[in-house]
Parts: sequence; C-alpha cells; structure tokens
Amino acid sequence: MDTPISFAILAAGLGTRMKSARAKVLHRAGGLTLVEHVVRSVEAAFPDSRIVVVVGYQAAEVRQTLAGHRVEFAVQSEQKGTGHALMACRELLEGEEGLLAVLYGDCPLLSPATLRRLAARQRDSGDAVTVITTVLENPHGYGRIIPGGEGRIRAIVEEKAAMPEQLAIREINSGMYCFRAGLLWRHIGELAASNPAGEFYLTDMVEILGRHGYSAGALRLDDPQEVLGINTRVELAAADRVFRDRKARELMLGGVTIEKPETVTIDAGVSIGMDSVIEPFAQILGRTMIGKDCRVGTCSILIDCSLGDSVTVFPFSIARTSTLEDGVEIGPFARLRMENHLEAGAHVGNFVELKKTRLGAGSKAMHLAYLGDSEIGSRANIGAGTITCNYDGVRKHRTRVGDGAFVGSNSTLVAPLEIGPGSYVAAGSVVTEAVPADALALGRSRQVNKEGWAARRRQALHGG
Ligand code: UD1
Ligand code: CA
Repeated sequence: MDTPISFAILAAGLGTRMKSARAKVLHRAGGLTLVEHVVRSVEAAFPDSRIVVVVGYQAAEVRQTLAGHRVEFAVQSEQKGTGHALMACRELLEGEEGLLAVLYGDCPLLSPATLRRLAARQRDSGDAVTVITTVLENPHGYGRIIPGGEGRIRAIVEEKAAMPEQLAIREINSGMYCFRAGLLWRHIGELAASNPAGEFYLTDMVEILGRHGYSAGALRLDDPQEVLGINTRVELAAADRVFRDRKARELMLGGVTIEKPETVTIDAGVSIGMDSVIEPFAQILGRTMIGKDCRVGTCSILIDCSLGDSVTVFPFSIARTSTLEDGVEIGPFARLRMENHLEAGAHVGNFVELKKTRLGAGSKAMHLAYLGDSEIGSRANIGAGTITCNYDGVRKHRTRVGDGAFVGSNSTLVAPLEIGPGSYVAAGSVVTEAVPADALALGRSRQVNKEGWAARRRQALHGG
C-alpha cells in the first residue's frame, strides 16, 4: 500500500457504565487490557504506521499498560467527547499525509485483516471517510447509520439524540473510521457540542463533511463480533469469551489437543507445542511457554512459566514464574510459588510447595514438603514432610542439598544449612549444622522402650 496511514486510538474516557474506579480501557479481556488489544491489531496490520493514543482519565496507567508498544500519546485533560478527543491529536498528526484511521480503545476484537480492508476501501473510494458498520439484532447503545444514496452514509445519530424512527435502524456505527486526513483536519473545528450530552461527537463529522460536498462510505461487516464495543462488564465477559475461543482455536489448529476448549483460559501471549494436551478448566496465563508432548492437568494454573517437552502437570497444580525442564512432573496439588527451576526429570508431588528453589535433574520431593530458597542437587530425595526453615523472622536463609543426598521424612532443615552430597539425614531430624558428604545425620533424641509399661498402666487403672 502506497498511501501512508496514521492511527488515533481514543482511550481517555472513564467508562461510567463499567461501574469501576478503573478506566474502562484498562479492564482486561483475553488476558490483555482492552486498549492493548487495539494497539496490537494496528501493529499487526500496519507495523510502520504512527499510532497516537489519546489518554486522559488515569493517563499514567494507560501509558503503563502500553509500555513496550511503539505508540505516542496525546492528552485530553477534560473528556468532552470523542470529537474533542481526536482534536487532542491535532498537533501530533496534522502534518501527516494520506489516511487517518480513528479507533476507540473500547473495541478490542477488531482484527488486523479488517483494518487492512478498512484502509483499502477508503484509499480506493472517492469518499472523505469510510465508517465500519454492521447490522445488529439489538442495536441498543450504538450510534445509528442514517443512509444516504448509493450505499453511502448521510449521518450518524447517537442513541441519546435519535428520533423514534431512527432508533429502529439496526445498522450501527462501530466507532472505527478511516478519513482522508487533510479533509478531517480542515473541518474538525466545525464540530459543536450541540447535543443533549454537551459533547463533541466525532460522529457528526459525517454530516459536516457532507455539507461541504464530500461523501461518506461504509465498510459493512457481516459478522458483528469484531466491532463489539465494551461498555459494561457483561460485554467485557462476552469479549473475553471470544478471545478465549480464538486462542484455543489457533492452538488446536497448530496441533494442540484441548479437552473441552470452552472451559480453558489461555492468554494471548501463551505458546504451546505440538501434541501437548490441555485438560478441562486449565488456566495458562501471561507469557507461559509450553513445549511438545506436555500435559496440563485439569484445574491447573500456570502463570508466566516455561515448560520444556514432555512435562506433566497433574491436576490442581499452581505454578508461577517457574521453569520446568524436559520430563518434569508436578502435582497433583503442587504449588510452585515463584522463580523455581526444576531440571530435567525432576518430580514434585502432592502438597509440596516450592519457592525460589532449584531442584536438580531427577530429584524428587513427592509428598507434603516446603522447600524455600533452596538449591537441591541432582538425584536427591526429599522425604515426605521435609521443611526448610528459611525464615528467622527477619531474614531469609538458603539451604543447599548435594547430589544424591537422601533427606528422610519429616526432617526440619534449619537454614542457613549445607547438606553434603551422598549424605543421609535420618527421618524426623532437626538439622541445624552442616552435614558432611556421605555422612549420616541424626538430629533427634534416641528412642527408649520401656518393657511392659502399657500393661502395668492398664492394670493400675482398671485393677485386676
Ligand atoms: C461511540 C460512538 C457510537 C458508536 C460506539 C461504538 C460517538 C459520539 N459515539 O459511542 O456512535 O456506536 O462508540 O462502540 O463517538 N473517549 C475519549 N474521550 C472522550 C470520550 C470518549 O477518549 O471525551 C474514548 C473512550 O475512552 C472510549 C471511546 O472514546 O474508548 C468511545 O467512547 P464511549 O463513551 O464508549 O462512546 P459510546 O457511547 O460507546
Ligand atoms: Ca463505547
């Protein structure tokens, strides 16, 4: 495409209908904020275009959610309507030739393909602007399209300002437009706040351009899904569902088995390798990467984790910011709190909690343990009920367990502590001092058996 194109994304409003202290465009669907979805679609369709995001309400937070994207910001300090918001971009964008597409930050489902169609339709038309429209069963809440001749648009009427017969129109304004930039800037000053809401409606540009003899065309979408605007939490949930379905579909077409895909929650940034299986109700979030031939058990939650190949996460396990190398198994009911690294073939079983712990290749902690701030070598065995006492009430301390060490069940490892390679810790020990390599550590009191004690007691109590 030769004609240059720039983008203005309006995201300054509060969004009163969300009933939230947070700006509407900061609410999340499909794992990303609404405005981030819009920016990503633009970046995917037109990687080299200029993108200006209009911020106002909670501007700092909106900038923050877009950190890492190649966007500029314009500030609309008072929210006086969508037309007023676009005027805030004037300084940044007025010099740009060609096309100016305007998108709203609360319409996150728009695809890159549709954006390209919008630009192409405008470029090839003689119109001053192309508006994306669609026909809705229930057009409530949207601006209505007043037809002109020959498929053109004469005006857009906001619901609040519409006559009863206009309310019956089911073709709606999506809030996505592509203008001839020069014409827009020449006439945008003619917008007036002459409506019941006292706002500058961008939608009035269609009529204004018409008065100067310019036509407005439509890109009519058969499938309304892409243009759904989010105004309430009900619509937010519907958009979330659409993103989840899209993501699950993309993964399945890429060779991932998803059981009951309508129940899983997989964020946009997740990647999963071929022949992996995702069981029902799994949540795979953030930037989690999963290799080939893995299995994620039902109701497990993985957040920003990295899994190699053939990793099994048994049901009801939770892991955050952790790395699981090839062949690792965790769960059921494992909890990997943060920054853990499980080397190849390590196993973590039920009711085991790990925090900032490295578990060496082939090592096992199968039952009821807590390992915090620890470094466990390879082929070590951590017995049931082992606890690292890593916190003295003020500071955290580290525990090191050497290769091939065997820590007996119900051991208490008081950190800082070093347990040498090949050593044994007897079950039930409280270990406070370093254990040399290949030694046996017994940290418990010796057992005493008193012969006949129980029988004598019974006799004393019950006589006889
Ligand atoms: C708008 C359209 C309506 C269309 C609908 C599609 C207008 C006047 N109406 O209505 O025709 O059918 O979207 O979803 O344009 N914003 C600002 N500054 C402001 C006001 C709004 O940046 O002063 C931003 C908001 O953050 C939001 C977007 O513009 O992302 C749309 O605003 P919203 O109030 O939701 O417009 P609608 O009433 O939905
Ligand atoms: Ca809206």
